[in-house]
Amino acid sequence: MGRIPFVCGNWKCHKTIADAVALVTELKNTLGMATRAGTIDVAVAPPFTAIAAVVKRLEGTQIGVAGQSCHWEDQGAFTGEISAPMLYEAGARFVILGHSERRQLFGELDQAVSVKTKSALRAGLSPIVCVGETLGEREAGETMHRVGAQLDGSLAGIGAAEATRVTIAYEPVWAIGTGRNASPAQAQEVHAFIRGKLAAMYGAIATGMRIQYGGSVKPSNAVELMAQPDIDGALVGGASLVADQFVAIARAAIEKGK
Ligand code: PGA
Repeated sequence: MGRIPFVCGNWKCHKTIADAVALVTELKNTLGMATRAGTIDVAVAPPFTAIAAVVKRLEGTQIGVAGQSCHWEDQGAFTGEISAPMLYEAGARFVILGHSERRQLFGELDQAVSVKTKSALRAGLSPIVCVGETLGEREAGETMHRVGAQLDGSLAGIGAAEATRVTIAYEPVWAIGTGRNASPAQAQEVHAFIRGKLAAMYGAIATGMRIQYGGSVKPSNAVELMAQPDIDGALVGGASLVADQFVAIARAAIEKGK
């Protein structure tokens, strides 16, 4: 398959600078050597305030740093926003875009996700574009329709050459922070659908694009989720705040990458 597994910890609105540095110090000590370039990609997404300090502490490791969102313009009168070039300058090389909390709590629409994705790509960041259905949509049998529409909207105007740098995160909204993960079969079904959709959009390069699963990933379910053919890693929320748990999940991806 040739896809290198990719695990990213989404810290959300957790950790002061001091707490963040303490956590990545643990990651550096336990995981730093395991993540050789080309074996697995591991990243953490701290709050904006901690990015620079986390980047500095992770120097000399293969662990990358991600922003949790960015604005679509490089600069301007957008109080409270952070731009993609600012993230890049701070040392981030990835950015999570269109997370369901951004969509649900802050009204972010597919169109915004698409312009943010373009901005991130322009700045040299690799975007992680999140999609996923709500419980109501799943129960109404609309999962594929919803996820397909989110992919169309969120990747609008992004060509095949740029898409190679995009990771998709499938995160069913009902599984995020609920302790109720999608079963490996449920997740694989949607991942296969996403792969097919990407193939229709981008052709052969879809085979090389990574699709992470997210939603209550824990050490206890990571191995069987990662064993699915179209699951190329994980976007991890709660469990990424605890070094031992995040390391265990990353190790499951390392095994897959072997
Ligand atoms: P969770 O969050 O692992 O806490 O369910 C996942 C996410 O929101 O990315």
